[in-house]
Amino acid sequence: MKKILITGGAGFIGYHLAKHLLNQEYEIVIADNFFRSERDADLENLLKQPNVKLVTADLTIPASWENIGNGYDYVYHLVGINGTKLFYEIPHEVLRIGITTTLNVLDWFKTKNNKPGAKILYTSSNEAYAGALEAFGKLPIPTPENVPLIIADPYNPRWSYAGQKLISELLFIHYSKAYNFRMSIVRPHNFYGPREGYMHVIPEVIERIKQKTDPFPIFGADDTRSFCYIDDAILAIQGVMESKKTDEGTYHIGTHEETVIMDLVETMFNLMDWRPKNLEIKKSPLGSVKRRLADVSKIKMDIGWEAKTNIKEGLEKTIAWYNSRK
Ligand SMILES: NC(=O)c1ccc[n+]([C@@H]2O[C@H](COP(=O)([O-])OP(=O)(O)OC[C@H]3O[C@@H](n4cnc5c(N)ncnc54)[C@H](O)[C@@H]3O)[C@@H](O)[C@H]2O)c1
Repeated sequence: MKKILITGGAGFIGYHLAKHLLNQEYEIVIADNFFRSERDADLENLLKQPNVKLVTADLTIPASWENIGNGYDYVYHLVGINGTKLFYEIPHEVLRIGITTTLNVLDWFKTKNNKPGAKILYTSSNEAYAGALEAFGKLPIPTPENVPLIIADPYNPRWSYAGQKLISELLFIHYSKAYNFRMSIVRPHNFYGPREGYMHVIPEVIERIKQKTDPFPIFGADDTRSFCYIDDAILAIQGVMESKKTDEGTYHIGTHEETVIMDLVETMFNLMDWRPKNLEIKKSPLGSVKRRLADVSKIKMDIGWEAKTNIKEGLEKTIAWYNSRK
C-alpha cells in the first residue's frame, strides 16, 4: 500500500483529495493545525476510515515533523494561508507560515522521509504571476506557465501571498535539484465546490443570496476568472503527482471557460431562484487583477487532463451542498 502525506489536509483541497484517494489502496496521513479549517462532520467521517489518520500539528515548528513519521511515497504540500481577506489582515503571517512550512517540509523530505523514488508536489498559485498584468499591462491571456513571477507592489499587503508562493516555487525547484528528489509544482486557478469555507467569492455570494441581502453588493463586477470545479481539480493534482513526465515541471490547473463576475452572480440568482431589487456595484480590492485565465494546454499534453464540469453544473452541486448545511 502506498503511503501519502497531505499537509494542510483538513482544508478545502486537502479534504477532497483525501476523500478521492480513500478507495484507492493508499494509507493517508493528514497534517493540519486547524488554523483555517474545522473538525466538522465531513472530516470526522473521513477520519472514521481505517486508512486515514490525522496528525494535529503546527507545521511551522520543526519539532512537529517528528510526529509525521516517514516512508511516504507521495507528499502533497498544500499547507498555507489562503483567503484574500487574510492577505490584507495578516500579511506577515501569510509570509511566515508559507515560507517556514516550505523550508520545513523540504528539510524533512530530504533528510527524514527516507523513501527511494518518493515525490513531493507543491500547490503554488496563479497569484504568483497575476501582478504582471497590472504592473506592465502585458500578460498573455490565456496565460502559460513560463511567464515571469512578480510582486507588483511590496507595500500592498495583498502581494504577501504571491511573495511566499514565488519564494516557495524557487525553494522547491532548487532543493529538488540540489538533493536530487522528484517534485512538481501546480498553480490552481480558482477552485470551487463543497466545503470551501465562507471566505471565497462563490460561498460569499451563496450566503448573501440565502440572507436575501438587498441592495446586493458585487465586487469587481466586470473582472473575469476561470473557475475550476474541485472534482476536476483533484484529478489534475493526482495526475501531476503520479506521472513521471511531470517531474521538475510546473502546471497550470484551471478551465478554458472565462467567467465575468457579474455573469457568475446572475447565474447564481437564477439557480437559487431569488434576485435583489437593487445591485450595489463596488470596486474590486486594491491590487485585484481584472482578467485571469490559465493556459491549460501543457497539462493536457503531458497527462491528458482537462476540466469536464461547466460552471453551471459545478455551481448547482456547490449550492446544493451549502443549502444542506445551514
Ligand atoms: N483553493 C484554491 O482555489 C487555490 C488557489 C490557488 C492556490 N491554492 C493553494 O492550495 C493550497 C490549499 O488551498 P485550500 O484552498 O485547500 O486552502 P485551505 O485554507 O482550505 O487549506 C489550507 C490548510 O492549511 C492549514 N494550515 C494553515 N497553517 C498551518 C500550520 N501552520 N500548520 C498546519 N496546518 C496549517 C489550514 O488550517 C487549512 O486547513 C494552499 O497552499 C493555497 O494557497 C488554492
